[in-house]
Amino acid sequence: MTVRQALEQGTELLEKSGIDAPRLTAEVLLSHAIRQPKQWLYAHSTDELRELWWIHYGRYLHERMKGKPTQYITGIQEFYGRDFQVTPAVLIPRPETELLVEAVLQTLLPKGPILDIGTGSGAIAITLALEAKAQIAAVDISPEALQVAKANAATLGADVHFLQGDLLEAIAPQSLAAIVSNPPYIPKTQQDTLQREVVDHEPHLALFSEEDGMQHYRRIIEQSKRVLIPGGWLFLELAFDTAPKLKRLLPEAEIRPDLAGHPRIAIAQI
Ligand SMILES: C[S@@+](CC[C@H](N)C(=O)[O-])C[C@H]1O[C@@H](n2cnc3c(N)ncnc32)[C@H](O)[C@@H]1O
Repeated sequence: MTVRQALEQGTELLEKSGIDAPRLTAEVLLSHAIRQPKQWLYAHSTDELRELWWIHYGRYLHERMKGKPTQYITGIQEFYGRDFQVTPAVLIPRPETELLVEAVLQTLLPKGPILDIGTGSGAIAITLALEAKAQIAAVDISPEALQVAKANAATLGADVHFLQGDLLEAIAPQSLAAIVSNPPYIPKTQQDTLQREVVDHEPHLALFSEEDGMQHYRRIIEQSKRVLIPGGWLFLELAFDTAPKLKRLLPEAEIRPDLAGHPRIAIAQI
């Protein structure tokens, strides 16, 4: 079997299983099996597939058809132009979250540290550390997530101070210039409405917030008044439908839309 035939077969199998973007997924999985970039596949389309490549590729296709997200198979997700390691201990960073990073980069902040709450893979904190000349800290309640974030910071050469903790509990009063967070925001009651590949594979600690899904926002907003220096900023990513509830908690917040026009980011100076 040649590389081209393997891609065609893989695409067909994924398509029959109802997987989105079957051709692209087959390419990503085959290039991961061969440990070569995707362009290699085009330059070697008539090469015979080695047995070991075929075994890996077959396993990856099977995992994807059973619903495992491609990023947890390859262990990589791109964010803001950089490759981040992802494991099932962390949420797969989403493209919308890049807007949150941009909002921070575009704002003139007072001098002082910026804290990323619920850092997961470290995507937000590490990107800010590399893009902004600022002191960056990051907190997560999950020690497994922090291990992934620390590995990403080391690989990407980012200077981030990581700590384990519950939101802002361990943070000293009036010590931060800004807080940025993409917290868990899905109400448990909506679990059945989510895509299976999200519910079955992504960490529930990263997805769900108690009661109406607003508990993390409520606690962050309340606690931020204690830890931000006067004139400090709060940047929050929102679910596509939470802006009205957020406005009730933080009436002064400016709400910005994502590229699809959904209200996605709340920004407030505290
Ligand atoms: C939606 S994920 C965001 C991950 C990453 N910042 C991103 O945007 O891709 C939320 C993160 O918050 C963490 N988390 C949940 N509850 C927390 C808490 N009480 N204190 C600190 N972190 C928490 C989870 O472990 C998870 O890593």
